[in-house]
Amino acid sequence: MDFELKSLSPAQASTLAIDALAVLVPDTEPTKPGSSPIEALIEQAVRHGDLEKGVGKLLVSFRVAGVKAPRVVLVRAGDGSAASVRKAVAAAVGSLKHPGVRKIGLLLSLVSPGADAVNVAVQACADASYVYTHTKPSAKASALRQVVVGVSKPEVVRAGFEQGRALAVGVALAKEWANRPGNHATPSLLADAARQLGRKPGIKTEVLGPKEVKALGMGSFMAVAQGSAEPLRFIVLRYSGAPKSAAPVVLVGKGITFDTGGISIKPAPEMDEMKYDMGGAASVLGTFAALAELRPAINVVGLIPSCENMPDGLAVKPGDVVTSMSGQTIEILNTDAEGRLILCDALTYAERFKPRAVIDIATLTGACVIALGAVRSGLFSPVDELAAALQQAGESALDPCWRMPLDDEYADGLKSNFADMGNVAGRAAGSITAAKFLQKFTAKLSWAHLDIAGTAWKSGAAKGSTGRPVPLLLQFLIDEAGRSEATRPGGQKNAAKRARRV
Ligand code: BES
Ligand code: MN
Ligand code: ZN
Repeated sequence: MDFELKSLSPAQASTLAIDALAVLVPDTEPTKPGSSPIEALIEQAVRHGDLEKGVGKLLVSFRVAGVKAPRVVLVRAGDGSAASVRKAVAAAVGSLKHPGVRKIGLLLSLVSPGADAVNVAVQACADASYVYTHTKPSAKASALRQVVVGVSKPEVVRAGFEQGRALAVGVALAKEWANRPGNHATPSLLADAARQLGRKPGIKTEVLGPKEVKALGMGSFMAVAQGSAEPLRFIVLRYSGAPKSAAPVVLVGKGITFDTGGISIKPAPEMDEMKYDMGGAASVLGTFAALAELRPAINVVGLIPSCENMPDGLAVKPGDVVTSMSGQTIEILNTDAEGRLILCDALTYAERFKPRAVIDIATLTGACVIALGAVRSGLFSPVDELAAALQQAGESALDPCWRMPLDDEYADGLKSNFADMGNVAGRAAGSITAAKFLQKFTAKLSWAHLDIAGTAWKSGAAKGSTGRPVPLLLQFLIDEAGRSEATRPGGQKNAAKRARRV
C-alpha cells in the first residue's frame, strides 16, 4: 500500500480526486467552525444528531455537495489521542470495503494528531485492509492501494508517519506468516522468507540446517526436531544500520511451525491454532522488514530456531535427557514444553554476537494467556533498565506488555534427579517457571523474554494473527538507536540531527 503525507485543510481535502474521504472528527465542538463543505457537513450532521459522540461512531455519506470524493465518512476520534485515532481509522477504513475504493484520503487535521497518532493511523489503515488469501484465493483482497494522510503540519509528524509506514510492511509480513497453515509455513519455507528479506538493503540472511546445528552442539533444539519429517532450520538475520563496532541487539523468535505437543500430545480441540507457534519467529521477520524500510542507526541480529513438534517413532520421549549447547543437561519431562528447548540453544548461540541486549519472543505458555489474556504480552527480565525500556516501548507503540516476577524460588520446581534441570515445573505460575528455565541460559547476557501466547493471535470469529509485538520491538529498537547515539562522543548532536531528519 502506498502512503503519502500531505498538508491538507478541510477545504483542500474536498478537492482531492479520490474514491473516498475519511474525516476524523473530535468529540469537542470546534471553537471557530470553518466554512468548507466538509465542516458544513460535520456541523449539520452533529446538529441533527446523525453523528453521535464516541470513538469509532460513523456517518457515511454519498455525493456530498462541494466534495470531489464520492464517499465521505465522518468518524468520531474522541480526544485525538493515538488510541482513539487508531480505533477511529479502523472503523472508517472498515466501512470502505467497496471494490471501487482504491484511493482514499484520511483527513486528520481536525484532531491535531501527534506523531504517535499519525503512526497508528497509518498502521490501522494497513491493518483494516489486510486480507489473508494465500490458501483462500476466493477471499476478496482489499482494493485499497493508495492513502493520502492529511494533517496541518506534516513536518511535525513526519517521523511518526514513516514509522507507521515501516510497521505497515512489517506487521503485514508477521501476520501473513503466522496465518499460513503448517503445511504452507514449514521451517524451510520460513527460511526462504528470511532469505527474501536478505535481499533488502542492510539485511543479510544465513540459514543453518541439521548438519550445522549438530556441529554446534544444539542437542536440545535437535531433540524437538527429531520426531518430524521436516528438516529443522536455524535462521540468522543481520540488519546493519550502525558501524560494525556497535554491539547489536539480538532478537530470538520461537519458530515452531506446528506444535502437536509431541509424545505429550495436545488434545484435539483448537490444535489447529498451534500453527501460530511460530508467532515469535514471524515477529522477528516482520521487525526486520520494518527495519529495512526505516533504516534506523542500530545493528540487529535475528535468530530463529525453527522446526515442528511431532509425535513419531523417533520422537523424543518423556524422561529423555539431552545436552544443550551450553553443556547443561535437560530432562525432557513434557515434550509439549518444546519452545524453551529450542530457545535455550538459540540463547547460547546469541553469546557470540557480544550483544548489548537479547530479547526472545515466544508463544511460550498457555499460562501466560490465563495471566494476561490478549491485552498485554508477558515481559520477563532480571535487568531493570531493559525491562523499563521494553515496557515504555510497548506503551508508546500501543502494543503493551507487563512485567512479571523472576524470584529464584520459582525455579525450584525445575530441579531434576537425572539432569541439571527438568523442562517443566508444576502447573502453578507456568509462564514464570518457563522464563526461569530460559534464564538458566542467559548468565552472560542482558536478557528479556516476551511471552506472546495471548497477544500474537485472536481466537473466535475473527481468528487470525495480530502481528504483535512488531510495533513494540521496532519502537524499542528506534529508542535504542537514539540511546546509543547519545552515549557516543559527538553522538548527542548526531541524534538530534537524525531526529530532525526522520
Ligand atoms: N505453544 C505452547 C504454548 C501456547 C499455548 C501458545 C496456547 C499459545 C496458546 C507451548 O509449547 C506449550 O505447549 N506449553 C505448555 C507448557 C506446559 C507443558 C508446561 C502449556 O502452556 O501448556
Ligand atoms: Mn508445546
Ligand atoms: Zn509450543
